[in-house]
Amino acid sequence: MSSLPEKADKYIKTVTLKDGSQAIVRQIRGGDERALLSMFASLSPETVYNRFFKLRRPFTLEEVSKMVYIKAEEEFALVASPTTPSELSIIADARYFVEDNIRAEISIVVQDKWQLKGLGTAMLNYLINIGKENGIREYFVYVLSDNAVMIHVAKKLGFTLRSQSYGISRLDLKVE
Ligand SMILES: CC(C)(COP(=O)(O)OP(=O)(O)OC[C@H]1O[C@@H](n2cnc3c(N)ncnc32)[C@H](O)[C@@H]1OP(=O)(O)O)[C@@H](O)C(=O)NCCC(=O)NCCS
Repeated sequence: MSSLPEKADKYIKTVTLKDGSQAIVRQIRGGDERALLSMFASLSPETVYNRFFKLRRPFTLEEVSKMVYIKAEEEFALVASPTTPSELSIIADARYFVEDNIRAEISIVVQDKWQLKGLGTAMLNYLINIGKENGIREYFVYVLSDNAVMIHVAKKLGFTLRSQSYGISRLDLKVE
């Protein structure tokens, strides 16, 4: 059973980006699957590779639905939407996967046109704080070692490099 809100937006927040544009960040909800599918279909190969560590075939609606209808005790996801009319109604997805009660793995993707405007940093900061409210005390993220942007963002948020092997770096964060 999913505990996702179907209608009411939870954890809603407006974020002002570096170029002055705005995005609305909220918890993922039932009905987001087509918008999420469109976002994934719009990603550049480089962005797909940085997020999934491989050049994967396009997602199906069924696969994306599994990313929407998640169990609160296993996973939590935020999405972002533009505030002005846009081809895409979801432009970013940031989530954590609970490994045990206090530890979670983070992953994020920001659609190419919206990258480097501060959205990824803002969403991860928010995600980490929501997780903290939900009892998560330790986060980790796997990043391609040549993904300088994500490594910069993670370090800015307080993550430290824990290990590096086969071109993949792991960064860890403990929250108070
Ligand atoms: C990585 C990602 C999530 C970051 O989100 P974003 O919204 O683009 O990033 P932000 O704008 O918040 O921050 C980017 C930072 O990188 C810095 N940066 C830009 N180019 C850089 C480079 N070549 N090397 C290092 N840092 C760089 C920016 O200056 C900015 O830092 P600052 O705010 O301290 O100035 C996003 O780019 C993305 O989705 N990439 C593809 C998927 C991915 O890599 N996911 C992570 C693996 S799970």
